[in-house]
Amino acid sequence: MTRSALLITGAGSGIGRAVACAAARDGWYVHATDIDHAAAAETLDRVRQRGGHGTSHGLDVTDAAAVAQTFSALDAASVPLRGLFTAAGIDSGGASHELDPAVWRRVLDVNATGTFLVVQQALEAMMHGGGSIVLCGSPAAQVGFAAGGVTAYGASKGAISSMTRTLAVDYARFGIRINAIVPGPTETPLMWANVPSADVERMRDQVAREVPLGRMAQPEEIAESVLWLLSDRASYTTGSLIGCDGGVLAKSSISV
Ligand SMILES: NC(=O)c1ccc[n+]([C@@H]2O[C@H](COP(=O)([O-])OP(=O)(O)OC[C@H]3O[C@@H](n4cnc5c(N)ncnc54)[C@H](O)[C@@H]3O)[C@@H](O)[C@H]2O)c1
Repeated sequence: MTRSALLITGAGSGIGRAVACAAARDGWYVHATDIDHAAAAETLDRVRQRGGHGTSHGLDVTDAAAVAQTFSALDAASVPLRGLFTAAGIDSGGASHELDPAVWRRVLDVNATGTFLVVQQALEAMMHGGGSIVLCGSPAAQVGFAAGGVTAYGASKGAISSMTRTLAVDYARFGIRINAIVPGPTETPLMWANVPSADVERMRDQVAREVPLGRMAQPEEIAESVLWLLSDRASYTTGSLIGCDGGVLAKSSISV
């Protein structure tokens, strides 16, 4: 059986790391990349502990030259790239009327432009053989969060939603499927990036009460949906935003 490679950005933590571990179980050869190379290397250790194989790379997705260099360093001749999962992301924000434009630019740069730069390289690698690309969206692309202050993050994820649809249409004829996973609140460092540590426990309980399924997701639960999208079991699914959100987007807060 010819093995296929999956490249993951933001593989050093949270959802990206969980996808790397599940991918090893499913037989993918895993290229784990992250701006934090030590964290990506730790993910690769976990892949190997599960009997998997792969490589690790320090990669800042906003650096176009580094993205191109990382893809050209892959041994695509012996293990062709057939999968991409773009988990690299940041969440920073605040009230829009006083948001530092540098913060806006950084969030868009990492979450939207960084995703695009990586997708460009993956498309090139998959043009003659096909593949499956899974981007990382968010409910913030579709609704305003009650906590507020997520305009930059929401806009960056809105870009992911539209990229998913337009890329899917453009590259279907090359046998490349492009979808996005839309995770609900998931227990990762990013979830608490803007919450003072003293408030985390209280916020965790509050979020759990607000989610229809009554709890936050574990990254491994999101990973299962991503692995399905990456696999041939999703062979007729492209251009879709697939919710894995505990019912968050189905819920209205109107209670009367
Ligand atoms: N956790 C949630 O509740 C949630 C919900 C919806 C969507 N998401 C999305 O899931 C994705 C993964 O987030 P997570 O929750 O696992 O967060 P996380 O913080 O655990 O992981 C994000 C990873 O991205 C890496 N990263 C940050 N900037 C980078 C850059 N410039 N280049 C390369 N890597 C970079 C970080 O080092 C980190 O390892 C993100 O796109 C996030 O927006 C998360």
